[in-house]
Amino acid sequence: MRSASDWRSVVAEPPTAVGLLGGGVIGAGWAARFLLNGVDVRLYDPAPDAGRRLEEMLANARRAYRRLTLTPLPAEGRLTVVDALEAAVAGVDLVQESTPERLELKQRLLAAVSRAAGPETIICSSTSGLRPSQLQADMTQPERLAVGHPFNPVYLLPLVEVCGGAQTAPETLDRAEALYASVGMHPLRVRTEIDGFIADRLLEALWREALWLVHDDVATVEEVDDAIRYGAGLRWAIMGTFLTYRIAGGQSGMRHFMEQFGPALSAPWTKLVDVPELTPSFLDKLDAQSDAQADGLSVGELERLRDDCLVAILQGLRTHDTASGRTLAGWEQGLLARVDGTSAGSDGQPAGPLELVRREVPPEWIDYNGHVHESRYLQMFGDATDALLRRLGVDQAYVAGGHSYYTVETHLSHLQQLTAGERVRVLTQVLDQDERRLHVFHSLTREHDHEPVATAEQMLIHVDTSAARAAPVREPVGARVGALAAAHAALPAPRQAGRRIGLRS
Ligand SMILES: NC(=O)c1ccc[n+]([C@@H]2O[C@H](COP(=O)([O-])OP(=O)(O)OC[C@H]3O[C@@H](n4cnc5c(N)ncnc54)[C@H](O)[C@@H]3O)[C@@H](O)[C@H]2O)c1
Repeated sequence: MRSASDWRSVVAEPPTAVGLLGGGVIGAGWAARFLLNGVDVRLYDPAPDAGRRLEEMLANARRAYRRLTLTPLPAEGRLTVVDALEAAVAGVDLVQESTPERLELKQRLLAAVSRAAGPETIICSSTSGLRPSQLQADMTQPERLAVGHPFNPVYLLPLVEVCGGAQTAPETLDRAEALYASVGMHPLRVRTEIDGFIADRLLEALWREALWLVHDDVATVEEVDDAIRYGAGLRWAIMGTFLTYRIAGGQSGMRHFMEQFGPALSAPWTKLVDVPELTPSFLDKLDAQSDAQADGLSVGELERLRDDCLVAILQGLRTHDTASGRTLAGWEQGLLARVDGTSAGSDGQPAGPLELVRREVPPEWIDYNGHVHESRYLQMFGDATDALLRRLGVDQAYVAGGHSYYTVETHLSHLQQLTAGERVRVLTQVLDQDERRLHVFHSLTREHDHEPVATAEQMLIHVDTSAARAAPVREPVGARVGALAAAHAALPAPRQAGRRIGLRS
């Protein structure tokens, strides 16, 4: 199920800085996604509590990302809350407008952005349904405008619909898509400019039916939600609607399914475009039932429940390499490429130990003693080993070809304690090697310190993975291992290297 728009192979570098207009539900979600991808954010929102709301969203997003991936995240971008539109948009790669859904307001703001931003800046609107041709009406260089319509929570849901207006340049759409993909999103090009784009057309049809069912007392809000979440809702994340029905058609396919269920479409069961009148009593009913359904949980608690379950779904889809799980895997590959790129030496054979991992210690890693749980040290050293192997050329193609290194022995030493929020790095030195073995030593230090907090000495064996036995290293990996070992031969032997565990007299 590989779609034509598979972004895995096109993950570009994220932008350096973005300017955001509006820091509400959507704007704060954008801020969180960009900041956690290492992008600097300049936010303009005249509301006095905009900064506080953003901090709350960011706290949720940090929590979600810590659960989402074991891949080391980059250092967070810098957040600057500015007090004028011009200060938010000057010198940034992308401006994302997420202000209230009012055409005249957005037109005015986007026109002002187009005068204040540099000529290379891409300007996108988060609008749920306004047409880009209307939005770009008063802009200078309107060819830079596109709609980038995201979904709440923006920091977790990968979809962003990208749509151009009559005056939008094709390069603007390409660049917007590349920028969004670089921060882990799945851009979906809306090729025809229509009200509501693709997703909100579908969502509105469902929403209208749901309102009718509650309005006519056919079902409560909870019963409508149950009808979705216990059935079709579970399928949608995996297969959408068409692929679901293709399966339902069995061996005879979609045609058979349409023969069976097509006639019902002309009955029709639905209320089509009618909308229930939003009278005060109908709104009271919706309010009361929705509050009862929340069952005492605060909005914050509901958001965290939603995020935890989204993380679980995304991880499940990643395991099966499908739909948004594939987007997650592509994002992780991009993160690793960035880490490896930063650590690569200029001549390919640096004389000193390699710095392969940098990260902040998250609060979830702290155990009952108040410091980092010992399994996390192995995780960080494992990340360093993986990064070393990728650097030596043990990439996806090498592994797919039936070869890899397996770790067969590890000796950890804990020398100091680490607490939440500290920034650390792993320095790695090759001690020895031959055609089947690679002997490495890792030192975990605080970011600007050389004293080891913990160390790990590891023996790796090169294997033929299909035969499941040791085998000589292949080229070009073997030559790179040899060159790195030669470059590290002059380094002093680490103090902890070669120690055994036992009582010393
Ligand atoms: N809420 C959703 O689920 C959702 C999903 C996708 C897209 N959108 C779209 O995103 C946009 C924002 O929606 P939202 O739900 O975040 O709204 P919101 O009301 O939560 O936030 C809007 C923010 O814009 C700020 N604002 C108002 N005037 C401004 C100005 N002149 N300059 C800068 N900021 C200003 C407000 O103070 C507020 O913080 C809308 O266009 C909406 O259609 C919303």
